[in-house]
Amino acid sequence: MPKDYPNVVVAPPGPRAKAIIAQDELYASPSYIKEYPLAVERGEGAMLQDVDGNTYLDYMAGIAVASTGHAHPAVVAAIRKAAGDFLHVCSTDFYYAGFSALCERLAKLAPGPQPKKVFLTNSGTEAVEGAIKLARSHTKRPNIIAFEGAFHGRTMGAISLNSSKLKYRRNFGPLLPGIFHLPYANPYRCPRGQAQARCKADCSCSADYSASLFRERLSPDEVAAVIIEPILGEGGYVIPPRDFLQFWRDFCDEHGALLIFDEIQSGIGRTGRMFAAELLDVTPDVILLAKGLASGMPIGAIVARESVMTWERGSHGSTFGGNPVCCAAALATLDLIEHGLMQNAARRGAELLAGMRQLQQHHEAIGDVRGAGLMIGVEFVKDRTTKEPFEGFAHDVEMAAFRKGLLLLSCGRSTIRLAPPLVLDDYDVSTGLRIIGEVLSELRVPA
Ligand SMILES: Cc1ncc(COP(=O)(O)O)c(C=O)c1O
Repeated sequence: MPKDYPNVVVAPPGPRAKAIIAQDELYASPSYIKEYPLAVERGEGAMLQDVDGNTYLDYMAGIAVASTGHAHPAVVAAIRKAAGDFLHVCSTDFYYAGFSALCERLAKLAPGPQPKKVFLTNSGTEAVEGAIKLARSHTKRPNIIAFEGAFHGRTMGAISLNSSKLKYRRNFGPLLPGIFHLPYANPYRCPRGQAQARCKADCSCSADYSASLFRERLSPDEVAAVIIEPILGEGGYVIPPRDFLQFWRDFCDEHGALLIFDEIQSGIGRTGRMFAAELLDVTPDVILLAKGLASGMPIGAIVARESVMTWERGSHGSTFGGNPVCCAAALATLDLIEHGLMQNAARRGAELLAGMRQLQQHHEAIGDVRGAGLMIGVEFVKDRTTKEPFEGFAHDVEMAAFRKGLLLLSCGRSTIRLAPPLVLDDYDVSTGLRIIGEVLSELRVPA
């Protein structure tokens, strides 16, 4: 059947959306962002429909979560079956088949030849908290190195690691002690001012920046872990040079620290490979997952080398982590990702990337287009020479696209992320590119 979305029949928010928003504003916490007034009723594949009958093409997947598309029949069937069997028994204290099967599946999927063990959580931030505890308990050391631009979640340990936006930390201190931030290697904005090509070919900024840290403030033998997003998510969809990740792999090997990759956004097929670690060919000791793992059901994971996951029985647990319904959704999701969707992400991602690079030739405001699979960042600048971030423009693009029926989401200071469900087809790619092109033409900044 030919596709007929997007179709905006009532300027959003329509009357039914307005009623929901009014109720929300009265009773929901004011801390929620609420990026734009989208009130969803149902979804199918890469299509979302709002409560007023508008349909949208979804290029944000509920922040890179709806990996198999909305309401994939195989995932929904797995959820229905598991929910009909039993809803809860607590994995911390008892056993069930789906939980152990998911642990085995993730342990075997994770990169690197050594055996792995898995701890299942409810969310990304809970995986980050657990990883901090694991690193400290395994190494008996207190300190952690994190990176500028990083986003790891909303709980106390995670916000202590964050460095993408002040609002995530302001007024919440004192935060966790022992966290040291260093610059993230961003080829478009090399912290040392190197040209993009040189930065990609020969990245040495970590060696330079860490030298003064280790000379003046922190002894390497007191570092428990280095935590890195192998592709920066919330901080701007930045792919670092491989050298950057390898530098920290070598550091951890030399000094006995753990290398933790936060793949909560980049993992589970989004980059066209199961993990960004495989794409960039650097193997961490611990890998953190959530978001796309169960197509939208709440679950996360800490996957660590067996020799690292040494905490004693009872030292860490979770009432809901690895809930049976979520485990079933995750197993069904992994079947789909491994057998088709990951490959589709690579193929459609390459088409989207090429299409965006063509648009870049016609629109001066696009400073940089980068990405892997269906994790693509489009960064806007005021001037291509100075690369001054075009503050506010990504939001304007996002709003204009929303009114035309394309759902986008910004990240970093002036970047739009393209993070659609991995089910995108030819129609979805060409439609998304057409709408982004129209939006950029209409918002064209006078020279
Ligand atoms: C890289 C990364 N880590 C951690 C988190 C936190 O995950 P959650 O919102 O499930 O707690 C996010 C969420 O956006 C993320 O992108």
